[in-house]
Amino acid sequence: MGSVVWQRVLPTCCWFLLVCAPWTVLSHPQCLDYKPPFQPPEPLAFCKEYSKFGCCNVEKDNLVSQRYYMIMDYFDYSGYLTCGKYIRNILCQECSPYSAHLYDAEDANTPMRELPGLCGDYCSEFWHQCRYVLSLLTDNNTTIGIEDDRDRFCAFLELKDPQYCYPNVLSNTDLNANLGSVQADPEGCLQLCLQEVANGLRNPVAMVHANDGTHRFFVAEQLGYVWVYLPNGSRVDRPFLNLTRAVLTSPWAGDERGFLCLALHPHFTSVPKAYVYYSVAVKKQERIRISEFTLSTSDMNMLDHSSERTLLEVVEPASNHNGGQLLFGHDGYLYIFIGDGGKGGDPFGKFGNSQNK
Ligand SMILES: *[C@@H]1O[C@H](CO)[C@@H](O)[C@H](O)[C@H]1NC(C)=O
Ligand SMILES: *[C@@H]1O[C@H](CO)[C@@H](O)[C@H](O)[C@H]1NC(C)=O
Ligand SMILES: *[C@@H]1O[C@H](CO)[C@@H](O)[C@H](O)[C@H]1NC(C)=O
Ligand SMILES: *[C@@H]1O[C@H](CO)[C@@H](O)[C@H](O)[C@H]1NC(C)=O
Repeated sequence: MGSVVWQRVLPTCCWFLLVCAPWTVLSHPQCLDYKPPFQPPEPLAFCKEYSKFGCCNVEKDNLVSQRYYMIMDYFDYSGYLTCGKYIRNILCQECSPYSAHLYDAEDANTPMRELPGLCGDYCSEFWHQCRYVLSLLTDNNTTIGIEDDRDRFCAFLELKDPQYCYPNVLSNTDLNANLGSVQADPEGCLQLCLQEVANGLRNPVAMVHANDGTHRFFVAEQLGYVWVYLPNGSRVDRPFLNLTRAVLTSPWAGDERGFLCLALHPHFTSVPKAYVYYSVAVKKQERIRISEFTLSTSDMNMLDHSSERTLLEVVEPASNHNGGQLLFGHDGYLYIFIGDGGKGGDPFGKFGNSQNK
């Protein structure tokens, strides 16, 4: 017996509307692990300036601090005074909310830098004061001997992007305005808001907008209902379509059969027709049926149930893998996704239906 593959290809059920705020995001802070920066649960003891928003938690901050003190063991007091701040600042860039930029970590095809990219002026200053610390900061032996040559030294340390190099990245107001402070728009929406628009549905499988100026949308339930939701959020009591008697499904939540999709005519306003996709039993045979309904002439929130015109029926030899998506392309054609007939391993057809072009 082949294994059963639960490859559900039902349309995505989604009863939330995504509402994107018109928010222009100029800056793009990112950590070395490609994740977004965050506010550490506890303030950092060493790279304090990144306690509010950055890429280090307390453990990471401790590691940076240990590395710093190991390096500083090599210095006498005056060296400590001269170079300590450079070394601290350079090491702490791992915690910067822009660390991915500073270390060139964004492109997976090029190696990440070992040290953060410095701006030209800062690098010159560092070279003048502390050039001989380089070997303490890097294991890269291609740098051996470059301390005496400022150009080679800075060619190694510089990041050519004048906005994102250290320390310019900190003073750039575009990059730092509102960094880490998530601000709501006048309606209280953050950058991406989810708004619940419907609930209490039983296996909702499709949601389509009327797009006819009425701002209604329709939600289909697998057991064979389509409901109309009005712009004020209320749902019309009587169903837009009630196909529960015809639809083949079961109360089992994992059943892949049922009412699977709905698509409106691309010119719904002038051609008020809806296309539906559902499972059906015909002479003990399981099929999917695609049919057309016309809007009732007396009620815009209901299809004329007597208007059904069957366009296509396809035998589905097993009860799973029924496909289920129905949509109009920009070319005006109706596309129907019928699945491979089901059962584990695509056994139907000469070489499996899914391979049959
Ligand atoms: C060492 O530095 C050179 C540039 O001087 C760079 O091309 C190379 O990728 C670095 N190697 C490592 C292991 O970081
Ligand atoms: C660089 O260092 C590695 C060990 O870290 C060593 O195997 C290699 O020979 C060194 N290359 C040069 C040019 O010194
Ligand atoms: C929503 O609009 C419909 C039609 O205009 C109206 O019948 C219904 O009472 C409204 N519902 C709410 C909650 O305002
Ligand atoms: C849907 O149709 C079935 C049978 O055709 C009927 O029993 C049921 O009451 C209808 N549901 C609604 C909400 O109208």
